[in-house]
Amino acid sequence: MSLANHSFLSVEQLDTAELFSLFKTAKSLEPLAQGKVKSNLLSGAILANVFYEPSTRTRMSFDTAFARLGGHVNSFSATSSSAIKGESVADTARMISAYADIAVLRHPVQGSAKIFAEHASIPVVNGGDGDAEHPTQALLDCYTIAQYHPEISGITVAFTGDLKYGRAVHSLFRLLCRFDDITFIAIAPEQLQLPAELITLAEQSGHRIEFHSQPEDGIAHADIIYSTRIQQERFNVGIYEQIKSELFNINKAIIDANAKASAKILHPLPRDARAGAFDLSDDLDSDTRLVCFQQAANGVPVRMALFLHLFGIVPSNSDFTSVAWQH
Ligand code: NCD
Repeated sequence: MSLANHSFLSVEQLDTAELFSLFKTAKSLEPLAQGKVKSNLLSGAILANVFYEPSTRTRMSFDTAFARLGGHVNSFSATSSSAIKGESVADTARMISAYADIAVLRHPVQGSAKIFAEHASIPVVNGGDGDAEHPTQALLDCYTIAQYHPEISGITVAFTGDLKYGRAVHSLFRLLCRFDDITFIAIAPEQLQLPAELITLAEQSGHRIEFHSQPEDGIAHADIIYSTRIQQERFNVGIYEQIKSELFNINKAIIDANAKASAKILHPLPRDARAGAFDLSDDLDSDTRLVCFQQAANGVPVRMALFLHLFGIVPSNSDFTSVAWQH
């Protein structure tokens, strides 16, 4: 389906043709994303960035993407808004529709992006709803993967960390299921393994899926290692204490001993750098296989492209000076 004038709530809305068309737009927007070419395509348009949960990359890259296209950004944070007076998501959506032309919503509760979109009269982008979906993260993850594997089909992807509560994992997994012949390797303690629904989706879509509890056993054939943070804020402290002994770091020793020289290591970030945390180790920072910072930077052109597709103003010849946003 076409994204024009719709909300973007789930990767399920995209077919692979539209995804590659979005990537083509993103590629031609890279000089604008880097500030090398200026643009006023979205002059007069206002983005409401509505964040009920902490965010660095998602909020700032949406903000930068809109501003790089000449639009204005109006930010909302739950702690300084009427949310603390008990205002509902529905009422907030109604009000924000009067103050902006498009909104990005991040919320801790699964399904809230849909509720917000139902009560808004402007397009809404899901910036992460609870442990459910994070569709724009999947777009930039897939864009990054396509820089190394342009067809995407046929690759082996190892997911490590918190596969149960990680919404970035869920959206990327769903998006990869749209391609052909993917081998998924799910590496996590049993209590943090992939939701059953996603396992069924992969099997029904004709992909292969393997399960491991430790990275040494699973990453040997991976083209992409998608490492993630344990989402401690989404489950009980007692459970964390129970599974702690089964958690692991993805570090240089593990990668050097087990991963392919051509493997690429992605992470949606943030990584948990606190002492005793189980996450991607910083001893991989100078390893050229680690591409998570490039991945995060790709969020800007990809989100710029998404705005243009949602507003239905994508030029066919990549001439971004001849099209402009109209209310
Ligand atoms: C992720 C998120 O918020 O789901 N971060 C992000 O948006 N890049 C991943 C995480 O918080 O672990």
